[in-house]
Amino acid sequence: MSDESTMVDSAQAIPSTLSTTKSAARVIEINNLRKSFGSQEVLKNVSLQLFEGENLVVLGKSGSGKSVLIKCIVRLLNADEGTINVRFLFQSGALYDSMTVKQNLEFPLRRIKKDLTQKEIDEKVEEVLENVGLSHAVDKMPSQLSGGMRKRISLARTIIVDPMIMLYDEPTTGLDPVTSGEISLLINDVQKKYKTSSIIITHDIKCVHTTADRIILLLDGEVYHEGDLETFKMSTDVLIKSFFK
Ligand SMILES: Nc1ncnc2c1ncn2[C@@H]1O[C@H](COP(=O)(O)OP(=O)(O)OP(=O)(O)O)[C@@H](O)[C@H]1O
Ligand SMILES: [Mg+2]
Repeated sequence: MSDESTMVDSAQAIPSTLSTTKSAARVIEINNLRKSFGSQEVLKNVSLQLFEGENLVVLGKSGSGKSVLIKCIVRLLNADEGTINVRFLFQSGALYDSMTVKQNLEFPLRRIKKDLTQKEIDEKVEEVLENVGLSHAVDKMPSQLSGGMRKRISLARTIIVDPMIMLYDEPTTGLDPVTSGEISLLINDVQKKYKTSSIIITHDIKCVHTTADRIILLLDGEVYHEGDLETFKMSTDVLIKSFFK
């Protein structure tokens, strides 16, 4: 069973524990992460890095702990062992049903960038809506939007505060193939335009093709394979092939 799609992003500063020189290009660094629920060891020993500006796709069978990994990164769950260093962190959830699109977008801006004038806020709102191709939806209520449009607005609300890191948990789940393709392209647009670093969890192989700079495959609580799209596509490994058939 897959989770409701969630988008999590970064913007608010949390003191960095990363050292400066050698690991400067790492926005997330996870070392030997272990997480169990009772006797069930979900993540046994996961180490990974997210480098500045890259899209990292995390693959793994259902129940392999991908969402648990993201929840550990955003501290919704506490790791049992290991270290997780994140340069910046901020989280956003579903749209507020009782607010218009504009109000939804203004909300995080007012909270995080307190010194903006109304004019600057209006401009920001306009800019992000344009970027997700939904300028015309500014005064709509979330209930008046399609699933794909809501995902776009949710993305707009995340990028409006200039995040550094985007965590996408199944961003295209529940969407038709065309809309899924559009969301995947949007993920890349956001990456380029805002120079974000992203972790993308997806079962959507087209989304993998469109977005992945690098891929990590989880198996039995550990990183089973890591590499770029080509090495995954060329692999003769049975498990890897099962994801790319
Ligand atoms: N809060 C929790 N309490 C107990 N068990 C949990 C909790 N969260 C996750 N689990 C268990 O951890 C395992 C991994 O769950 P997770 O949601 O990370 O899988 P996933 O890889 O995201 O799967 P999917 O692809 O279906 O989304 C599952 O067996 C799940 O039941
Ligand atoms: Mg999941």
